[in-house]
Amino acid sequence: MNVVIFGATGMVGQGVLRECLLDTGVETVLSVGRSATGQQHPKLREILDEDFLDYSAIEDKLSGFDACFFCLGVSSAGMTEDNYTRVTYDFALAAAQTLVELNPNMTFIFVSGAGADSSESGRTMWARVKGKTENALLRLPFKAVYVFRPAAIQPLHGITSKTKAYQAFYTLTKPLLPLLKALFPKYITTTEQLGRAMLRVARQGYPKRILESPDINSI
Ligand SMILES: NC(=O)c1ccc[n+]([C@@H]2O[C@H](COP(=O)([O-])OP(=O)(O)OC[C@H]3O[C@@H](n4cnc5c(N)ncnc54)[C@H](OP(=O)(O)O)[C@@H]3O)[C@@H](O)[C@H]2O)c1
Repeated sequence: MNVVIFGATGMVGQGVLRECLLDTGVETVLSVGRSATGQQHPKLREILDEDFLDYSAIEDKLSGFDACFFCLGVSSAGMTEDNYTRVTYDFALAAAQTLVELNPNMTFIFVSGAGADSSESGRTMWARVKGKTENALLRLPFKAVYVFRPAAIQPLHGITSKTKAYQAFYTLTKPLLPLLKALFPKYITTTEQLGRAMLRVARQGYPKRILESPDINSI
């Protein structure tokens, strides 16, 4: 399987990248991002890109893929709806529209979040925008599109978040997370579980197109 990852430098993306590099069934991994992953591996290639709304300059390197794991995303804290929509909706749709033309047999997996609002009309800005993004992606003619909605994620294997607020939260709660995971096993996942679940869903599919945290953990 050939995989392209967007946001492989983030907390979720680093976890997915790790599992892809470890998985013997994954032949090549392409990371597309604005920063380098800092990793060296025979399977890994990287494109450092600046324009996440127009992929025409790198289109020739984006075909031949079986799966895309779209982990690029930001916290909405302090962002206007327009700016959050640009990074969440516009970036994801621009990438997906390019990829679906070049790889119609691709499985596209979008990392959303627990509480995303499929009605697109609720009061919470981030949830509306994630819901609108999910709905638009689910309409694209890929072989399959899945939406992952993790709740809390425990970073493993030295992985850190690029979002300062998230990282502060994970540093503070690190001693508690194993206990919370034992108490609420369905609602806390790990970067390893998330990465492995994405790989399995890309290979075997899943009965639901929107996967909540309990689905992710059960996989
Ligand atoms: N962390 C959680 O607990 C959690 C829970 C539920 C859902 N999620 C969702 O998972 C997704 C990833 O979250 P994360 O925790 O991995 O975030 P993160 O650690 O902050 O990483 C964000 C990733 O997106 C890239 N990115 C952000 N803004 C960008 C921009 N303007 N242009 C290009 N690349 C940009 C970052 O690239 P750089 O490395 O270059 O900054 C990085 O690769 C998000 O959509 C988030 O809502 C996260």
